[in-house]
Amino acid sequence: MVCADVPPVGQTGLVTRTRSIFRCEQCGAQSPKWSGQCPTCEAWNCLVESVASAKPTLSSEQQAQPITSVRSRSGDLAATGIDQLDTVLSGGLVPGSVTLLGGEPGIGKSTLLLQAAGAVAVAGRTVLYVAAEESIEQVRERADRLDVSSDRLLITDTTDVDSIAAEMVRLGPDVVVVDSVQTIHHSSAPGAPGSVNQVRDCAQLLVREARRTGAAVVLVGHVTKDGGIAGPRVLEHVVDTVLTFEGDRHHGLRFLRAVKHRFGSTRTLGVFEMAASGLVGVADPSRLFLADRSPGVAGSVVVPIVDGSRPLLVEVQALVVNSVLQNPRRVSQGLDGRRLSLLLAVLDRHADLSFDKHDVYVSAVGGVRITEPGADLAVALAVASSLTGIAMAGDTAVCGEIGLGGEIRQVSDIDRRFAEASRMGFGSVVAPGRSPEPPADLSIVRASTLAETLKRTGISSVPT
Ligand code: TYD
Ligand code: MG
Repeated sequence: MVCADVPPVGQTGLVTRTRSIFRCEQCGAQSPKWSGQCPTCEAWNCLVESVASAKPTLSSEQQAQPITSVRSRSGDLAATGIDQLDTVLSGGLVPGSVTLLGGEPGIGKSTLLLQAAGAVAVAGRTVLYVAAEESIEQVRERADRLDVSSDRLLITDTTDVDSIAAEMVRLGPDVVVVDSVQTIHHSSAPGAPGSVNQVRDCAQLLVREARRTGAAVVLVGHVTKDGGIAGPRVLEHVVDTVLTFEGDRHHGLRFLRAVKHRFGSTRTLGVFEMAASGLVGVADPSRLFLADRSPGVAGSVVVPIVDGSRPLLVEVQALVVNSVLQNPRRVSQGLDGRRLSLLLAVLDRHADLSFDKHDVYVSAVGGVRITEPGADLAVALAVASSLTGIAMAGDTAVCGEIGLGGEIRQVSDIDRRFAEASRMGFGSVVAPGRSPEPPADLSIVRASTLAETLKRTGISSVPT
């Protein structure tokens, strides 16, 4: 029997009432109840059950209304009090919204959210913190270390999503943190906590509760390096905002980005440093990245990259050494290895610099991950510089994409890159040929091909 009037678990939105009908497989006639013989064609044993949709019932809030009469909630943003997080959220958490914070285990998600929860509570709002992974004593100890203390920060270690929903109704919190979505469970969904069904049904229930109660819900989701856990990925379309928290665990720097945001820009970047007292916002990351640089060393080139809409100056370092291997090593850290191979091939073909007998190591300093092709020219000049032993001028920043023909191509946001180089006291830039004029304090070397750029920067003269 199909059970009438019970919507399937996990369905949201419109409630459609269903009822059973019986259809004759011979003549197609319908009957409200089963019988051995079709009342229309009188054939025997041919009635089969199917489900018919009755008229959907809409609550008064679900009935269509003029868009102008809908109250916008985005005006009541709950600023988290953590500058870099609020910037990425375009102001703060939106009431009734659900945000997913994804990142590898140990990267600092719980630390960031406990700090944010504390700041929201100190600002006079109520926060419900669901510690589904740790004991409440462990969270208390961490809160003490982070200097987080407020009676408005309420904590529970329940892992049952219905209990979380009940607490949301009882306490009416402004913000709810669920740490993590992989460790809570839904009693009527199949599978163990963390399975795709569990994660999705729990999230859907919390989305419904967020909309109903107006609480801003933040879910923590673990992802592995290869994105292996399905949980957070299947959630991306269910939630309003997806934030990713990344960084090299051996470096203190952490990068927060919005990869989906229904209430603002996804072109923002938050930078933090993990310190003994928790995460500290980094207002001037370029200065931090360049702090330990030794200008004028062969193999070192500075590139202005644009991450989101934020320009950053990053040092690219290359080390090229004689290889004893049949297949020399190509090692890249913070840069795409395939892009490095491509650039070495272009250097070989179009600039006569061969790396056949050399191991090549390239690294973006400070645990930064560079994914944009705007760093191509800097990487190519860094490896060429290490090969020839001729250093770039220490006050020169380099950007440009390299095509397979050895041509230098334009990059996005060139004005912002120039402005950042100028702000950080650089004296010149090497940039694609069609670039606009840089600020007055920067001189420019316009580069149209790789071979010409190597000549004009003096790097290619004595290949070893
Ligand atoms: P955590 O927030 O527990 O990571 P996640 O929730 O993403 O798994 O943070 C993990 C690391 O952060 C942990 O290895 C220790 C470090 N840490 C600090 O360096 N300073 C601090 O103040 C705190 C709380 C953590
Ligand atoms: Mg954690």
